[in-house]
Amino acid sequence: MDWGMIDRYAKSLIKEAGHRIRLSFAREIHIDTKADANDLVTDIDREIEQFFISRIRRDFPDHRILGEEGFGDQVESSEGVIWILDPIDGTMNFVHQKRNFAISLGIYADGAGMLGYIYDVMADDFYHAFRDGGAYRNDERLPQLEPTPLNEAIIGVNASWVCPNRYVDHERIARLVNECRGTRSYGSAAIELAHVAAGRLDAYMSMRLAPWDIAGGSVIVGEVGAVTTDLRGMENDMITKGTFIAARPGLHETILKDYIDLKI
Ligand code: IPD
Ligand code: CA
Ligand code: CA
Repeated sequence: MDWGMIDRYAKSLIKEAGHRIRLSFAREIHIDTKADANDLVTDIDREIEQFFISRIRRDFPDHRILGEEGFGDQVESSEGVIWILDPIDGTMNFVHQKRNFAISLGIYADGAGMLGYIYDVMADDFYHAFRDGGAYRNDERLPQLEPTPLNEAIIGVNASWVCPNRYVDHERIARLVNECRGTRSYGSAAIELAHVAAGRLDAYMSMRLAPWDIAGGSVIVGEVGAVTTDLRGMENDMITKGTFIAARPGLHETILKDYIDLKI
């Protein structure tokens, strides 16, 4: 497999998709809801996913595609090469703010993350990584992450997990919020993972993420030494939805051991 060629191809596809998203602001955007009234999708999410899929199917007919909007393949096993795509991660931000959303893509071979991309479209910040080749922001190599104690850590976590919920003991999360240095929530898992990779967040966690939210970012943060698992400490399989944490080494163990009590 010529991963260098696939890397160049994926980068140019993502840049072109970003251009198409920026152009879409001149049009009227149609907004629908999915699982609930706050789960938004637009015609642009669908068009961008279809754009990726038509190109990938034409040029890599034996690869499979797992895309959020469902135009790709029904993926139930990790065999072969799979492109895991979120055409717009942070659709609520896309709709309400017209910024703080990203294209997220991970390319996996037999379950191993080979290439990862996060493109923060409006900031024009492009993060990428290839397996054992390091992680980059706009072609500048990102340094390895050093351990940080919890009381000096900024944690990416959504405020909803501090409210009573059916996934996790919210009182422990409230204690985590109190005992770390600060918390942030950006509304795009991919952008939050880019912040972890660049050392601007020390950890990011969520109780319910899909493979397309984390596939690209997991490759990128892994290349700078962050630890990524589900909230039981097991590897995420990139096929099913589940819990997720990415954190600096050491901090990952502290959070899982002392602050997470899952109900699911
Ligand atoms: C969502 C964002 C959000 C996260 C949600 C995701 P979407 O993705 O990443 O930050 O909290 O769980 O579903 O729907 O905007 O692609
Ligand atoms: Ca997403
Ligand atoms: Ca999305």
